[in-house]
Amino acid sequence: MQQQHSNQQTNGTCTTLTSPRKKQRMSSSGALSKVTVVLGAQWGDEGKGKVVDMLATDADIVCRCQGGNNAGHTVVVDGAEFDFHLLPSGIINPRCKSVIGNGVVIHIPGLFEELEKNEAKGLKDWKERLIISDRAHIVFDFHQQVDGLQELEKGTQSLGTTKKGIGPTYSSKAARNGLRIGDLLGDFDKFSEKFKTLVTSYQKMFPALHVDVEQELERYKGFAERIRPYVKETVQYLHNALQEGKKVLVEGANAAMLDIDFGTYPYVTSSNCSIGGVSTGLGLPPSTIGEVIGVVKAYTTRVGDGPFPTELLDATGELLQKRGHEVGVTTKRKRRCGWLDLAVLKFTAMVNGYTSLCLTKLDILDTLSEIKVCIAYQLNGKEINYFPSSTSELSKVEAIYEKLDGWSSNTEGVRSLDKLPTNARKYIQLIEEHLNIPVKWIGVGAGRESVIAL
Ligand code: GDP
Ligand code: IMO
Ligand code: MG
Repeated sequence: MQQQHSNQQTNGTCTTLTSPRKKQRMSSSGALSKVTVVLGAQWGDEGKGKVVDMLATDADIVCRCQGGNNAGHTVVVDGAEFDFHLLPSGIINPRCKSVIGNGVVIHIPGLFEELEKNEAKGLKDWKERLIISDRAHIVFDFHQQVDGLQELEKGTQSLGTTKKGIGPTYSSKAARNGLRIGDLLGDFDKFSEKFKTLVTSYQKMFPALHVDVEQELERYKGFAERIRPYVKETVQYLHNALQEGKKVLVEGANAAMLDIDFGTYPYVTSSNCSIGGVSTGLGLPPSTIGEVIGVVKAYTTRVGDGPFPTELLDATGELLQKRGHEVGVTTKRKRRCGWLDLAVLKFTAMVNGYTSLCLTKLDILDTLSEIKVCIAYQLNGKEINYFPSSTSELSKVEAIYEKLDGWSSNTEGVRSLDKLPTNARKYIQLIEEHLNIPVKWIGVGAGRESVIAL
């Protein structure tokens, strides 16, 4: 609604290039095109899939840059529901190439299951459009088993992970004994040797871990041939695309409050799901980042454990859970629900530099007579002006709320701002004023068409 903010940076390389070779590499306008990024601004499940699907109609390439199949992104098109875990949600658009970047961790059997499932629902021609980085790390089944064993070991301190093997795979990557897609497609003897070393290292930590190494290797020999046609060096590919002026969209998975550095550590995932993950997970320099869209659910949800200052453990929380169908796409766990938290959003806006917001699920608040919004936190009776980095401090803060009257009417069919009830417009205005970021889209239903574009 506000004037468009901009973090667009000029591309300092273009005006000084004169040689024919250099000219030939650039788009006709002489400037590299900028990528548009969609990021989760809360604890995940904000509706990123729907936003990406909507924006993908105008994109040439949609990329995932981090995370794995811990993500669950739903897209509803003409009543048909697609869910994506590893595949970029833009894959539905038949014009779009889909890149799974180097920062993603890939469970290969899961990827093929996902493709088959969505193909049965109508996904077409993906074989010509899917591109997988040879640098992406492989999630093995034993990584998933280890995820479960680590959770068991933590007992009451468990994190509530998705048990998709995400933490153990990124651990292998950081320990530098992980295996990449490129390893699988190279010398299979070397791959086998590294695989055995990796299994042995985990078996030393978890003697109960059983892996039939020979059977697994046989299975992976088959996967190597299945995945080979889609694997590429994606950094050059993406840079060429930007030089040709192609429109590239990046789909963040998970969300800022689950980021390994900025989230509620240790109740986080194991990747950078904030803006930095776009650069490291695709090989795109920060100067190529254009619009950064923060996806904000009109209230807050969280799956898994960890502090949640605005959580509602009462009938209103239950109502949001039920009306919002707040059940995890990946794990089928009920999502915890609470009021919108502007302290969280101010913090994630600071880290991610949103240029605009997409506010989703406004329609879920339609029946409430009063709505609260947390505008800041207090600790020991005093308002604090920073976002606590420790979970023990965050679990002690008290939310300071501003109360608003609800609008008690159905917004589902609304397609323009002026048709929204006055109190709904006040709600949006409050968010924009506190964050000083314009809301560009408002979601009023799950379908692709259920959006108010401002
Ligand atoms: P993601 O992980 O961020 O892509 O979000 P999920 O797909 O896990 O969860 C969001 C859920 O809300 C999905 O079931 C969407 O279909 C649904 N959804 C998205 N936007 C809206 C909206 O504006 N209104 C309603 N009622 N549902 C929405
Ligand atoms: P999307 O992309 C919501 C949460 C898990 C757990 C923590 C760590 O659909 O928004 P992990 O398996 O990653 O080690 O789990 O992170 N989590 C998510 N919660 N949406 C997600 O993704 C999530 N991805 C991870 O529930 O609390
Ligand atoms: Mg989700």
